[in-house]
Amino acid sequence: MGLREDLEAAKATGLGELAAVADAASLEAARVAWLGARSGRMKELKEAFSALPGDQKREFGRVLNEVDAALKEAFKSAQERLAGAVQDAPIDLTMPVPAHRPGSIHPISQVAADIERVFTSMGYEVIDGPHVEEDEFNFGRLNIPADHPARDAQDTFWLSTGKLLRTHTSSVQGRTYAGVGSGALTPPFRRVVVGKVFRYEAVDATHDNTFTQVEGFVVDKGITVAHLVGTIKTMLAAALKRDDVDIRLRPHFFPFVEPGFEVDVRLLHGEGRLAKWMELLGCGMIHPRVLTMGGIDPEQWQGFAFGLGLERLTMVRHQIGDIRLFNGADLRGLRQFT
Ligand code: PHE
Repeated sequence: MGLREDLEAAKATGLGELAAVADAASLEAARVAWLGARSGRMKELKEAFSALPGDQKREFGRVLNEVDAALKEAFKSAQERLAGAVQDAPIDLTMPVPAHRPGSIHPISQVAADIERVFTSMGYEVIDGPHVEEDEFNFGRLNIPADHPARDAQDTFWLSTGKLLRTHTSSVQGRTYAGVGSGALTPPFRRVVVGKVFRYEAVDATHDNTFTQVEGFVVDKGITVAHLVGTIKTMLAAALKRDDVDIRLRPHFFPFVEPGFEVDVRLLHGEGRLAKWMELLGCGMIHPRVLTMGGIDPEQWQGFAFGLGLERLTMVRHQIGDIRLFNGADLRGLRQFT
């Protein structure tokens, strides 16, 4: 094909395309394809033109300019057509705008912040560990060997890699003792963890497969159960926003503490024989074996540890009856706690 045919074809197709564009994106695409300064069709044609011998230039110059002008004109009118379409679109200026609803901090995060604040004020370091955890830190270093029946108490999500989703924040204790063993950390220390844990459990009003735990532990000299009780009461008063809380300790077995306890908190409603107690946390004095495994001499150092479910605590604080509120998507529940 000669240049004349090329120019005529460009004019016909280009004008057709520009007349057909229906939105800003296709208008821009057509502009680039036909009038683009770097690789548009007109640019190619102008290059072909300038390669022509002088006498032919005279013949084609006029046609070239005419096609160029026609395409530019078509571009402009397409642009105006689209702008007009926007202006003519029906806009109801009186339509009410949906009201902005300020967001709010999740009730669990509110209680977590209160807890971190009170522990920071007692000189604790706030730390966390990974959700995907090694057997060693979740179980092994906590005196729960592979064949120990205590593993059955926490139904575990195992991963095909041999790792697991941590079943409790005590895994961070496991990591801490490993840190002492490797010389990265030395007692005394006070640490608190607030984080998600996972159990292979059927979900109902008081159980969820994903929940939040608070774990606190201290290793120092001369630590006794009295320090443990005092710390737990201080924490619960701060988290429940009460001046004082009644708790009771019941002996309980956890492989990594000795002695071990479960702690119940007295619910506000009901006095005397009508008082109701709710089980809230596990705790105890860190087992000498756990300390020894971590390279800490139990003759010299003692410690306590406790772990509690933050959802339970928040349910007590706000008198919420169903744990599914926290991870559910129904904002009507959560919006009550702004
Ligand atoms: N990790 C225990 C649990 O999840 C709780 C606990 C923590 C008990 C620390 C004793 C000491 O059941």
